[in-house]
Amino acid sequence: MPLPSPVLDPPFTITRASHVVLDVADLTASRRFYEEVLGLVVTLAEADTLYLRGVEEACHHSLVLRRRGGPARCARIGLRVLTEGDLDKAQAFFAGRGCPAARAEVAHQGPTLHATDPFGIRLELCARMPTEPRQITRFHRHRGGSALRIDHVQLLTPHLEAALGFYTELGFWLTEYVGGSAEDIRAVFLQRKGNPHDLVFFNGDGPRLHHVAFMVPETQHLLRACDIAGELGYGRNVERGPGRHGPGHALFVYFRDPDGHRVELFNTHYQVMDLENEPVRWDPHDPAVAFPWGFPARKRWFEEATPFEDTEVQPAAVRPNPMTLERYLAEGS
Ligand SMILES: [Fe+2]
Repeated sequence: MPLPSPVLDPPFTITRASHVVLDVADLTASRRFYEEVLGLVVTLAEADTLYLRGVEEACHHSLVLRRRGGPARCARIGLRVLTEGDLDKAQAFFAGRGCPAARAEVAHQGPTLHATDPFGIRLELCARMPTEPRQITRFHRHRGGSALRIDHVQLLTPHLEAALGFYTELGFWLTEYVGGSAEDIRAVFLQRKGNPHDLVFFNGDGPRLHHVAFMVPETQHLLRACDIAGELGYGRNVERGPGRHGPGHALFVYFRDPDGHRVELFNTHYQVMDLENEPVRWDPHDPAVAFPWGFPARKRWFEEATPFEDTEVQPAAVRPNPMTLERYLAEGS
């Protein structure tokens, strides 16, 4: 498969991955975790919905938690578009592809389009949000990891090649990929906002949300979040890391929230916004891809993820066989 070239005049303008809507069982438990461990700011607490944002974010929310009685699900992946006119263009585009797409009234955000991509990923395209004062210099109010802003979401799909083509057509640039060759791609990193990724797709049973990621100011905030997690009884929720990624190069730590949704804190992304930057290939057989140092992730990090609401999970045709912590220890490597 040839690598796709950037599309410079997409059918409508997406600016970034902007928010995630998750279903949770207990808003009080979720609020404690996200406020105290990650350091997100509560913009608004309603009876059944919690709206949170990072300390440098002005827009009303980057994480919406809805109290639901059922299993933990992802309701929507939020994407910002530049203008309301882009929503009309997006609706026509999705409809033309046979994808569900309809305007929606969503509280505390402006004009919104609900659409489902060809791979079953439930999207929420939004043109505007109310704004709140940034909390970035309210240092005395910062908690936990001082999460600054949402950066990206990672998704699992059995239709990786098709997803790469679809989102390239929507203007996403391929910055990095994991693959033995251009014909054997296992993960793609796609961006709109000028750093390594907004949307990441890995091959796997899907559609499922693997994680949502928030940026932190400094390396110390990763450790501070871990320390506070341990103090508050979330020590076992620290699932992977701290460590350093191959792709994207970030220092990271992954948590599981009280409902099992996975969230990443990270820092040190680089900028990539010039056309002459070729996509970086990572060899899946090179251990430095998954863990340049330290230990590989547990098996569950590779296999567990959040399904989407009202969406059937389809099995991947090709099963990945990554180096897991369990296999690493068993083999004594
Ligand atoms: Fe990530």
